[in-house]
Amino acid sequence: MYRTTFAIVDLSALAHNIRLLQGRLAPGVRLLVAVKADAYGHGVRPVVEVLRREGVHQVAVASLEEALQIRTFDKDIPILILGAVGVDECLVAAEYKLDVLYTDVCPLSDIPRLPKPLAMHIAIDTGMNRLGLKSTDAVLSVIEAMADREDIRLAGVCTHLACADASDLSHATRQVERLLEAVRAMGDKGCTPPLVHAANSAGLLRGDAWQFDMVRVGIAAYGYSPDPDVLPMPALRPVMHMYTSITRVADVRPGETIGYGATYTAQRSMRVATIAVGYADGFPRILSNRGVVRVRGCEVPIVGRVCMDQAMIDVSDVPAAQVGDFVTVFGIDPPSAWTASAWRALGPDNRANWLQETFALAANEEGRNVLSLSTVAPLAETIPYEILCQINRRVPKLYVEA
Ligand SMILES: Cc1ncc(COP(=O)(O)O)c(C=O)c1O
Repeated sequence: MYRTTFAIVDLSALAHNIRLLQGRLAPGVRLLVAVKADAYGHGVRPVVEVLRREGVHQVAVASLEEALQIRTFDKDIPILILGAVGVDECLVAAEYKLDVLYTDVCPLSDIPRLPKPLAMHIAIDTGMNRLGLKSTDAVLSVIEAMADREDIRLAGVCTHLACADASDLSHATRQVERLLEAVRAMGDKGCTPPLVHAANSAGLLRGDAWQFDMVRVGIAAYGYSPDPDVLPMPALRPVMHMYTSITRVADVRPGETIGYGATYTAQRSMRVATIAVGYADGFPRILSNRGVVRVRGCEVPIVGRVCMDQAMIDVSDVPAAQVGDFVTVFGIDPPSAWTASAWRALGPDNRANWLQETFALAANEEGRNVLSLSTVAPLAETIPYEILCQINRRVPKLYVEA
C-alpha cells in the first residue's frame, strides 16, 4: 500500500447487525439479505461468507451476472434475482439453482421446457410501478399456467414497498393490502404460496405486521437505518469506514481562491490541507464547498471543488493538523495508533495488516466519534446506499473482524 486512501470493512459489525435484525423478526420469519451491487459496495464474497455463518436464509442480487459471481465461491446458498429476467436468464437460473422473480417481462409461454426446475416468486406491483404484475387477475392466470408446468415451481409471492420509511404509512399500508388481496384470491383458488414477502429494512423495522414469511433487508445489514429520523436504530453499527490522509498543508491569504473554477475565496488567512480522495474514488463531487471530513477529532469543511483524486479542506481551526494525518471520510475516527510516523516506518507490504490489526484492537477505544453517512449523504443530496455503492475498486477494502 502506497496511497493512504482505503476503506475498512468491519465484518463483526455486519454479524452484529444481522443478529440484531434477526432479533427483530417474529418467530419463523426468514431473513434474506440483499447483496446486490457488490454487497452495497462492501465486497460480495466476504459479506456472503458472514451471512452464511450467521444463518441468513437467502441472499438477493440484481442480475444473473451477480448471481453467477456468487456461484463461483458458493455452490448452494439460496439466491434470489430481483431484477427482471428474460428467457435466456431463466435457462441459466434453473441450471445454477437461482430463484427468479416472475414479472410480466417474460411470459411463461415464452420459456421452453427446462431440463432442471426453476423456482419463481411472483412479483406483484402494488404501487411502486417498477416491476411485477399489476392486477390480481394477472396473478391468478400465472398461477394457473404454473400449475401446468412441472419444470416451474411457485416459490413465493412478493411486492416491494416504496414508502415503508415514511412517517405517513398510508402508501405502504395500501401496498400491503393489495398484496394480501392477491394472496387471498390465490387461496380461493386453492393455492397457498410457500412464501409471502414484502418488507425491506424499513418494513422490518416497523415491527412484525409486514414481515409475513420473509423479509428482504439491505441497508440495515450494512449499518444504516433507511431513515434515522423516522426509524432510529442506534444499535446498528456501520460496516464500512473510509479514510484518507493529508498530503499537504498550506497557508492561504485572504482573497486567494481554492480549487478548479476558483469557487471558494478565502475571507481570512487560512490553513488549507489537501487530502488524497476525489470523485474517482466515489467521493461525490457535489460535496464541493459543502461536505465535511474529520481530522484529529474535529469536523472540518471541504473548500473548493472536489477534484478527481484530491480535495481541499479548511484546517484553520485544527492547528495540529499536518501532512500524514489520517482523515475520516466517513465512519468511526481512526484509531490513535494511526500516525504518519507509524505509516512511514512500515513498508508498503506491511501496511494493510497493520491497519487491520490496529483497527480491530481499537474497537473499544474510548472517545472515537463517528462521521455518519446519515450526515454526509444529505450534504451530497443522496442517501447512504448510493455513497456506499460508489466507493469503487480504486479504494482498497481491508476486512477486519474486530
Ligand atoms: C426488491 C428489493 N427488496 C429489498 C431491498 C432492500 O432494501 P433496503 O436496502 O432498503 O433494505 C431492495 C433494495 O433496493 C430491493 O430492490
